[in-house]
Amino acid sequence: MILKLDKQQIRTVLEEAYARCKNDTQGKNADYIPYLAGVPATLFGIAACLPDGELLTVGDTDFAFGIESVSKVPTALLAMSQYGADTILRQIGADATGLPFNSIMAILLENDHPSTPLVNAGAIAACSMIRPTGQSDAKWKAIKEFIETLTGSRIAVIDELYRSESETNFNNRSITWLLRNYGRIYDDPELSLDLYTRQCSLGITARQLAVMAATIASGGVNPVTHLKVFDAALTPKITALMATVGFYEHTGDWLFTTGLPAKSGVGGGILAVVPGVMGLAAFAPPLDEAGNSVKAQKALAHIADRLSLGLFNTTHGIVTETAAVPAEA
Ligand code: DON
Repeated sequence: MILKLDKQQIRTVLEEAYARCKNDTQGKNADYIPYLAGVPATLFGIAACLPDGELLTVGDTDFAFGIESVSKVPTALLAMSQYGADTILRQIGADATGLPFNSIMAILLENDHPSTPLVNAGAIAACSMIRPTGQSDAKWKAIKEFIETLTGSRIAVIDELYRSESETNFNNRSITWLLRNYGRIYDDPELSLDLYTRQCSLGITARQLAVMAATIASGGVNPVTHLKVFDAALTPKITALMATVGFYEHTGDWLFTTGLPAKSGVGGGILAVVPGVMGLAAFAPPLDEAGNSVKAQKALAHIADRLSLGLFNTTHGIVTETAAVPAEA
């Protein structure tokens, strides 16, 4: 994709998206995790991180909200870094479920398979795989430090959110033990569930999510710290997973509308990757019925449309009759 954008154009479109969506009152905070119900519903922020590491932001981009399911992205990347993408495909899967994020039926329909690391079942299985297996503290350190390298900044668990999640995660416990029954949990089940719950309880800002998205967009090199975080070959793998299931049963609608691989969380955050171009993030707590932020979706869809960011656009790559064919080495 050949896309020519200048920073002022991106800044203008971000501000436009913010102004258009700011007063939208659709959706409702998640309330099945009590902490999330109490986060101010009017918070709203949008951030873009460019390949040179510059951050363009508008609104509440410094507020630390629950990362929730967006954490499935870094853990899937870490699992793929540790084991290779093929092993993750074999042991977890890469199929869209077309069902809610916490679906037990999806596990049964996929012949006992967790489907993909981007739904709860696959994310818990991914946590179980993270090395060093059997060592809760060391596994947690690996997950947290990997996210910190992706964002280029420190992050911390929101203790009240972690408590709130741990006290109410009965469905996830059922998923964990059902997977254990099928041999799809690769470490102690309760340890794996706790890691998943902890990673969902991390506080993250829209700025940090935008840097994470930009690191993925840049083939694993963090554009702010310039550190190589993961192998470039994993960018097409993680973006393929995001494109197939990032918004659960609404993923097709999202991809049809924007053409962007993205991942949502019930904390209200969305991370979107424009490979080779930029990382985007938006945050607003009220969600639609599938658990995706209403305002963040609308804002990112506006940006994707105005800047023609969709991956399936055909207008950017122009092949002319005179296009030179590179000489063979
Ligand atoms: O497992 C859960 O229910 C939450 N900790 C995370 C769910 C979530 O964010 C779904 N995504 N939109």
